Amino acid sequence: MRSWSGCIRTASTGAHIGFGQPDEMKGVHRHNLRTAGARITRHTRILTGPAFSELPAIAFITINRIHKFYGSRGAIAHPMSSIERDRIANSRLQTASIAQLFTEARSYNRWQDSFLDDAAIREIYEAAAFAPTSANGSPGRFVWVRSKEEKERLAGFVKAGNEIKILQAAATVIVAYDPHFYLNFPRLMPHAAGRLIAMFQSDPVEARETAFRNSSLQGAYLIMAARALGIDCGPMSGFNHDLVNGHYFAGTDVCANFLCCLGMGSVEELYPRGARLTFDEVNIVI
Ligand SMILES: Cc1cc2nc3c(=O)[nH]c(=O)nc-3n(C[C@H](O)[C@H](O)[C@H](O)COP(=O)(O)O)c2cc1C
Repeated sequence: MRSWSGCIRTASTGAHIGFGQPDEMKGVHRHNLRTAGARITRHTRILTGPAFSELPAIAFITINRIHKFYGSRGAIAHPMSSIERDRIANSRLQTASIAQLFTEARSYNRWQDSFLDDAAIREIYEAAAFAPTSANGSPGRFVWVRSKEEKERLAGFVKAGNEIKILQAAATVIVAYDPHFYLNFPRLMPHAAGRLIAMFQSDPVEARETAFRNSSLQGAYLIMAARALGIDCGPMSGFNHDLVNGHYFAGTDVCANFLCCLGMGSVEELYPRGARLTFDEVNIVI
């Protein structure tokens, strides 16, 4: 709930309703919140807060993940107040960090000599593991290929042109998924485990789709975690799935999704940055 001290949380929906900065808090009235459009149920608990009418111009309300902005008396206000801008400015990453993660980061094709130690591999996973998957199912399974012998084996399983990347990179992670991921729900989503296990057991196609979708996300999270730690990436889908599955996941139902080389990238064979589709081409705000 970050710094919202004037905060309401509904136990049933997890909705958060926050107001201004902590030092602006004095009291919160249910009536005013209702006026402002907040859905208040018997599960709603008011923790602390100011009189709604005494709030600065704008309150920020998040209900069921929908952010709504209201004037202090409930009228819908301009969707981005200066208060909100300040809050976002205070918590957003610096431009240099955004560049490191996104705008300046590249997919490398060649690699400088480097080594990825166990601590770095663990740190990448342990950061990425907190990023969301549906129902916290966490279907991703990861094989980190780092030894010379295993790199040479994996290089034999990838498409022409990709071998050198595996051989040069400090390590390559095989991002895979377990279609029976749902068996971990008693630990990962205990309050709904029975229902979720029954649902996925009765629909293996849905289970596999869910596993694939979420392992793709987890692979992307790994990339971002690695970049956050200053480690370059080179994702790769050009490989023989049967060979990879047959060797690394023999006797299991785990399947490879994609590979990602990691290490210190080299600008050799780094193509000019490809264009991206513009916002207007592929976004609609409704
Ligand atoms: C899932 C995935 C699979 C990829 N597979 C390959 C591949 O097999 N061979 C390859 O040269 N590049 C591969 N790429 C790299 C993409 O071509 C690259 O990320 C894209 O062109 C953007 O490049 P940039 O990050 O340098 O801007 C893959 C990327 C992703 C995300």
